[in-house]
Amino acid sequence: MTGVASPQPRPARFPFAMCTHHSETFARRRSAFLDAMAVASPSSVAVLPAAPVFVRNNDVDHEYRQDSDFFYLTGFDEPESVLVLDAQDRKATLFVRPRDKDREVWDGPRAGVDGAKALGADEAFVVSELDEKLPTMLQDKRRVYYRLGASRRFDDRLLGAIDRVKGRQRLGHTAPTEIVDPGAVLHEMRLRKSPVEIETMRTAAHITREAHELAMRRTRPGMHEYEVEALLLDTFRRHGSERPAYGSIVGSGPNACVLHYRKNDRRIDGGELLLIDAGCEFGYYASDVTRTFPVGRDFSREQQAIYELVLHAQEEGIAATRPGATLDEIHRLDVDIITRGLVGFGLLTGDVKELIEKETYKRFFMHRTSHWLGMDVHDVGAYFESGKPRRLEPGMVLTVEPGIYIAPDDDSVPPQWRGIGVRIEDDVLVTTAEPEVLTAGIPKTVDEVRRACAT
Ligand code: GLY
Ligand code: MN
Ligand code: MN
Repeated sequence: MTGVASPQPRPARFPFAMCTHHSETFARRRSAFLDAMAVASPSSVAVLPAAPVFVRNNDVDHEYRQDSDFFYLTGFDEPESVLVLDAQDRKATLFVRPRDKDREVWDGPRAGVDGAKALGADEAFVVSELDEKLPTMLQDKRRVYYRLGASRRFDDRLLGAIDRVKGRQRLGHTAPTEIVDPGAVLHEMRLRKSPVEIETMRTAAHITREAHELAMRRTRPGMHEYEVEALLLDTFRRHGSERPAYGSIVGSGPNACVLHYRKNDRRIDGGELLLIDAGCEFGYYASDVTRTFPVGRDFSREQQAIYELVLHAQEEGIAATRPGATLDEIHRLDVDIITRGLVGFGLLTGDVKELIEKETYKRFFMHRTSHWLGMDVHDVGAYFESGKPRRLEPGMVLTVEPGIYIAPDDDSVPPQWRGIGVRIEDDVLVTTAEPEVLTAGIPKTVDEVRRACAT
């Protein structure tokens, strides 16, 4: 079921293979999902609705982005669609918007029922038939894989369908008794990236690298943060990225200390650090990169000290990203490095062990070091297994992103340290050997940053 939203042709200048998601890719994923459903409970059906459309204001919608689970299984990017998978007869049924000549004049072509079948659905119907057909698809099944709570409106439709099956009990039909989150199966699949997914993530990483390099080269004192944001977005789009993977953070001076700063409207002064946390989405896969660099001048002594400490923690964190390790171990390693460093600078005082136990370091390093990365920037997949941090396996992709943020009004530290915010973030693939940094090559050491910047 693809062809509708497969990635754009690869920009000619990138010397790596582009991965087009083919319809077999989606068929294979549906097949693997059906296998897992059948093993857990042969009498089961999965119901996966497309992402809803959100109104922005009056008659304007927010940009539409398909639900990641739905896209992962279909490659189909049209709203209002619903995928129903039956584990017993291994059938994929797609409910879609009908063809509509008048609407298509305004909004562009729709696949329609024929298009949905051509994309690999075993059966396809217009979505207005869902309420009538769903009870029959659910009857005599024990389990429904469905994510409750994501859309109250769709919850009502599904529960309504189950109610209608209950009304058929006198005819000898039974209604499902279990509603299970499909994430338990699907998100485990999404957590381990296939070669084609990794190749797509490499493309996203390469585009993001271009964007960060351009921002370093072009940022000057007196520019506004939004001008730098515009350079990033321009680079993403020019290379065929559909959209940023999340709202770009361009924080100068004290704004570098605001973890999810989004205004991007301040004038950048010479001698300040600029923290850019931005990554493109390409072919439905995210990249997520942070670089911090000085604008118009070299690092101050204190800026450089903090920068090198974060860099050291980040490099050690990456080196520890190996099969068998856990995100918790990587985080503890970085907490240890950063706490020791801050004590060395006199910014924290006391016994390192105690500062860690009492979480005093959180005054300067208040977030975790890593998260999964994939179709969603904070990607799906369990972080714990049986209550314990899960062990890394080849094919998993995560970020390593330690940071130090000294609040501009923190009068417990000497003034020259205040308002320094540094984060360094890369995207790392776990392999059987050395970790592969997908976002490698984006200037990172002090010398690389100096050379890349316009100072
Ligand atoms: N940009 C969000 C994050 O780094 O997790
Ligand atoms: Mn980030
Ligand atoms: Mn991140």
